[in-house]
Formats: sequence, structure tokens, C-alpha cells
Amino acid sequence: MLNRRTFLKSAACLAAAPPGAPGAAPPPLRAHAAAAGLLYGAAAAYGPLQNDTAYAANFAEECGILVPENVLKWGPVHPEPERYNFAPADFLADFARKNQMKIRGHTLVWHNQLAPWVAATVSKENARSHLEGHIRAVMGHFKGRMHSWDVVNEAVSPGGQRSDGLRKTPWLDHLGPEYLDIAYSAAAEADPGALLVYNDYGLDYDEPGQEAKRAAVLNLLRGLKQRAVPLHAFGMQAHLSARQRTHFRPETLRRFFGEIAGLGLKILITELDAADQSLPEDNAERDRGVAEMYENYLTAALANQALIAVLTWGLTDKYTWLANQNKRADGAPVRVLPLDRDFQRKPAWQAMARAFDARAAG
Ligand code: XIL
Repeated sequence: MLNRRTFLKSAACLAAAPPGAPGAAPPPLRAHAAAAGLLYGAAAAYGPLQNDTAYAANFAEECGILVPENVLKWGPVHPEPERYNFAPADFLADFARKNQMKIRGHTLVWHNQLAPWVAATVSKENARSHLEGHIRAVMGHFKGRMHSWDVVNEAVSPGGQRSDGLRKTPWLDHLGPEYLDIAYSAAAEADPGALLVYNDYGLDYDEPGQEAKRAAVLNLLRGLKQRAVPLHAFGMQAHLSARQRTHFRPETLRRFFGEIAGLGLKILITELDAADQSLPEDNAERDRGVAEMYENYLTAALANQALIAVLTWGLTDKYTWLANQNKRADGAPVRVLPLDRDFQRKPAWQAMARAFDARAAG
């Protein structure tokens, strides 16, 4: 059953009154983003989206694009060599369609959340056919329905023994750096309509390690473009952290995005959130700190016209991976996303709306 507030909120979202008209509901983030020529959306938690009607209603209201948080990763979607489990992602795709939102795929090639059978079965001899088969099957299932796909996730990890900064993964071990070319070529064939994205993290701050990673990522992207590999966009995860916030320099982000756009790539912010561990416990103070991180970051990022979408990694503090990943020492629940645990809009929501409005105003 929808409770009254949820019902009113979802009804308001369907009402015909134009945004800003007297009596109209305040426009959702997707409307602020659309006015700036952007998509706004969030990672969707599968279980809650089925069972928590208030979550579903708020998700439908705020988001113009959805990305499954986990159910399209190799382990969940391809649990055995001959078995795919598309039911959860089908449910999310259906939810997106019914609510007039786009959907994007995350992720085909990643070293984490792989099915255990992969390590036992994949060898030098069969790696290419397993990789291509997986991409063909998963992308083929959603052909024509995906806005974009994170084809390869987190392939770069400098500081190891390799001069190209590529991360050691089963695919690199078996196929060498060409595994990326193989993955993007298979992806382009499987769904020619989807925007093909390379997605990565740890690129946000003015720190030596992150500067080295930015250089390695740019090097990778440049190589792919030079070899005419079908790559269309770069995904910036943007997992921000209060601990590092004094190391944020807008000009560093602007320069990085400028170089990516210079390669002819679009840019998406794919997993935005802001860990609040090092902020004070007081809610108002903490919300101000988190909002400031969102606003400073987005203001710098949105200056680049190659940026086409902003997705947060979750919508509400009720469901966020940071509750486990970045627990606070004082035990207070984290406050890291645009909506609080009761789906109320927080200062971070307002900060996002302001950043979108500023881009819309030109
Ligand atoms: C995270 C999910 O949010 C968690 O639920 C899961 O346990 C682990 O993965 N970078 C990514 C995402 O690309 O897939 C990760 O998602 C967060 C970091």
C-alpha cells in the first residue's frame, strides 16, 4: 500500500502544472537536470525497489535514469558458465520504462564481484571466447534498451609493476592489454545503439597518487581512441570523501575533463556520493559539509559541455553502500546522499539543484 505522503508525492509528479507554476510541486532533480541538458539518476537497490513503496515512488519522481547497483555484475547475472539470471535486471528495466526513465548498464568487465566459476574455468585458450560470449549475451538481452554501458570498470591501478598502470586481473593475465579492445569491439557489435563507457574511480583530488592515476587513465583512453576502438564516453565514479575535501581543486578537475573531452569523448558522473566519516556528528553541520562537497564538485564538472549525465550511487541514506563501507566511529548513520532516510530532501539535494540551475542559466 502506498502511504498518503508517498501517494501525494507520486501524484504531484504526474500533475500537469508546469514547474514553478503556483501550486505546482517543487520540481524533482530530473527536471532541474533536464533544463541544463543533463540526465540525473541514481543506482537502484533491487530488493528495496521491489519492497519499499516509498523508495520506489521517490526514485520514480527524482530520477531520469537508473543504473542497477549490483544485479548486472558478472557474479549475479552469470552465476554459472551456462546460466544467466536476468530476472532482477529485467524488473529494474521494466520499472525504468514504466516511469519514463532511461537505464544504463553496469558493468561487463570488472575484477570484483566475478562469479567463482570464472577463476576455475577461464584459461589463456578460452578467455577470449568467455569474455566475448558474456558481453554478447548480457548486452544482447538488453539490446536497444540501454542508454549506455560501463563496458570496462576500474582497469587502471598505477603503482604496481606495469608501466601502463593496468590493474592485474584475470583478463589482463590471459589476454594482455588487448582485452580492453576485445571487450569494446564485442560491445559495439552486441548493441550498436548503446554509448560505450570506460568507468573508473580515485581521480577527483589534487593528490600525487590521483594525479598519477589521471595520467594513466588518459593514456589508456588515448590509446583506445588511436586504435579506433569503439569507446564513446568516460565515466567518473566521483566517490567523494570529507577526509580529502581540502585536496579538491576545481581547476584540476576541469583540466582532466578538458583532456577527456579533447579526445572526443562524452563524460558521465556515474557514482557520486560523499563519505562523511570525518565530519562532525551534528546533522545540520554534517549536511552542510556534504552539500558543499557536492556543489563544489558539480560546479567544476558541469562547466564542461561534454558532461551529459550525473548519477548518484544511491538516492537515499536509507540504502547506501557507505553505511558498511564508510562507517562512522561515533556509530551515527551516514548522511551521504541527496535524500535522508525518510526521503526528505537534504542540503545535498539543494546543492545539486543549484548546480544544475547554474548550468541551465549558462
Ligand atoms: C558496490 C555496491 O554499491 C555494493 O552494494 C557492493 O557490495 C559492492 O559494490 N565502484 C563500483 C560499484 O563500480 O560497482 C561499487 O558498488 C562501488 C564502487
